[in-house]
Formats: sequence, C-alpha cells, structure tokens
Amino acid sequence: MPKSGQSEINAATRLCAVLGSPVAHSASPAMHNAAFAALALNWRYLAFEVNPKNLRAAIEGAKAMNFAGLNLTVPHKLLALEMVDELDVSAKVWGAVNTINFQNGRAIGFNTDADGIATSLREDLKIKLRGARVLLLGAGGAGRTAALKLASEGVSELFLANRTFSKILELQNEIAKKFPAVYVGLNYPKDSKAKIDLVLNATSIGLKKNDGLPFDGNQFSQNQARAVYDMIYRPAETRLLAAAKKSGCKTANGLGMLLHQGAKAFEIWTGKSAPLDVMRRALGQNIYGH
Ligand code: ATR
Repeated sequence: MPKSGQSEINAATRLCAVLGSPVAHSASPAMHNAAFAALALNWRYLAFEVNPKNLRAAIEGAKAMNFAGLNLTVPHKLLALEMVDELDVSAKVWGAVNTINFQNGRAIGFNTDADGIATSLREDLKIKLRGARVLLLGAGGAGRTAALKLASEGVSELFLANRTFSKILELQNEIAKKFPAVYVGLNYPKDSKAKIDLVLNATSIGLKKNDGLPFDGNQFSQNQARAVYDMIYRPAETRLLAAAKKSGCKTANGLGMLLHQGAKAFEIWTGKSAPLDVMRRALGQNIYGH
C-alpha cells in the first residue's frame, strides 16, 4: 500500500535515485519521497549502491531508462564531472557534481551542495557571511566546496586547518586565483584574542562515538568562536557542538545543509518549489526518529 498522499507505482512513475558507496544509511529517499507525495507527484526516489568502477554505466543506464534525475554521494562527486554530457555553471564553479538532471536524452551535471551550505548557515545560524572571519576545519571534498563557497560569499578572512597540509595549500592557491579579495590563512588564527565569527567543521571527526574535538586545543580555543556549525548531523550533537553550546556559541548541525541541497535538486528535476517543511520533517523522522 502506498503511504498517504503517495500515488500508486505504475507505468508512468518517474524515477530519481542517489548513487553512492556506502549508501544504505542515506536519508535522501525519505526526504524526496515525502516531497513527491506532498505534491501528489507520481515519482519515486531510490538508493543504489554503486561501485565507482560502475559509475559511468549506472549514469548511462539511468539515462537510457528515462530516469528524471540522480544525486551522487561519496565517492562519486568528482568522478561524475567527466561522465555527464554537459556541466551546469554550478558544477563548473564548484568542481563537483552531486545532482544530474536528464533532459532530452542528455545528462546535465549540477552542484547543489555549495548553495545548501550557504543557505543553511544563513538560516540556522542567522550569520552574515560577507565580511565574516571563518575557521574551516577539513579540506576534503565537503571542505573544499565550503571554502570556495564562503570565499564567493565574500568572507573577509578564511583560516584553513587540515590534517594533510598539502590540501590546504592547494585550496589557498585556488582561492587566490578565483577570489583574490579573500585573505586565506593557513592553520589557526595567530591572534588568540580576536573573535572568529564562524567555525565550520568539514572533517569526519565527530561521526564516531568516541571522537574528540576536530581542532587542536593548543592552537585554538572554543571561546574564540561566536558560532559553530558541524556538517555532521548523525549524531545530532557532536562533542564539538556540545562544547560550543556550553560556551554560549550559536550552533547548528549539518541537517540544514542536507535539506537545502536536496530541495535545490528537487526543484531542478521537477520545476516546482520544494516543500521544505515536509522535507525537514521527513529527514528528522528518518535520522532521529522524531
Ligand atoms: P568528505 O567528502 O566528507 O569531505 P573526505 O574528502 O574524505 O570526505 O574528507 C574528510 C576530511 O576529514 C578531511 O579533511 C580529512 O583530513 P585529510 O585531508 O588529512 O585526510 C579529515 N579527517 C578524517 N579523519 C581524520 C582524523 N582522524 N584526523 C584529522 N582529520 C581527519
């Protein structure tokens, strides 16, 4: 039996899916299926475990079977840059594809992650990015997108810290070329008295139960931060967020980012406004059980 509001699956059902590895814990199917049902669309969203070596075949297969669209998650976002027929400007600017729209037999690659980050920071922390001083922890895929997006939003100073130093050096060079007005500091800010408007965790530290803090306590103190955002949303409150709350910072986890990248993808596929409240509720239900 379909859930209330959900149409029967039939020969006219349009399909979307997320491709990833691992993908079993993805909350995207819950979020998008709730949105399709709320708008009474005869659409469904699935999740497929796809090994990177089969990514091209999976994208081609979805195109051949007239899927409406795809999301891509770890580890496919960079690989897909070479596998679509066309790159939307968002994928070119941010250098990664997390959304594909199939149109007239062509696969068009988009990036909705970058906008998702900025929208969530504004909505959940009520922060003004232009002119802000930011410390970004992590320079993997998510950290790189966040750094470029923050630079494009006109933050004044961006401090980058990462276990592997070469990645922040590379990122510093990239930002210097694309957004020369932004000061990029390598490692933690030297002046321990000056406040940092936003600390953004884009490392995977905090995902595991016994994880500590994602910054070096000898080089940076929690008290320097005004607001702290953790891209991790499972658990809902990492050690970083708990400590930040305790010291009186504004805090938010990465659920809003997941929501807004999904909402943007939904709008690209369907051409309709995303039902944000429905999608937020579905994510909460799926991830936290309430
Ligand atoms: P994502 O796509 O989520 O960004 P990723 O590209 O694997 O995933 O990036 C993970 C980030 O967490 C990186 O910044 C990584 O640091 P390295 O660039 O040095 O690998 C960071 N990270 C993961 N485990 C870590 C650990 N134990 N200590 C410090 N940093 C860690």
